[in-house]
Amino acid sequence: MGKHDTSDLPSLGDLHQEEQRCLAICAGKKCAKAGSTMVLHAAQGALQEAGLDASTQIVLTQCQDQCEEGPVVTVLPGGYPYLNMRPDWVRQVVASHIRDGVPVADLLPRRWRRRLERGKE
Ligand code: FES
Repeated sequence: MGKHDTSDLPSLGDLHQEEQRCLAICAGKKCAKAGSTMVLHAAQGALQEAGLDASTQIVLTQCQDQCEEGPVVTVLPGGYPYLNMRPDWVRQVVASHIRDGVPVADLLPRRWRRRLERGKE
């Protein structure tokens, strides 16, 4: 298997069936180039530190079709797309969205922020 052959990984669509909480990190070529491995390591560390590594899975996926905005990390259930992720931001997502159940609006695309705002009204 080549380094970027991700064909044996699940697609995001496969994971939408899952009920279990997970961080779906794109392992596609463009996201890898943009730093997805560092984001993966930060996510693993943050889950461990928060004692959430047993209850929250990290799944590497095929390309999530947002290559220009990688690294892409999608939080399931719900399919919240965190784009252009950085290690410190993914730590924030673990602390707020995963641990406290509060999505990090500032790190989500605008239409998701609007959706969250509407949810609060
Ligand atoms: S390579 Fe990650 S979204 Fe396409």
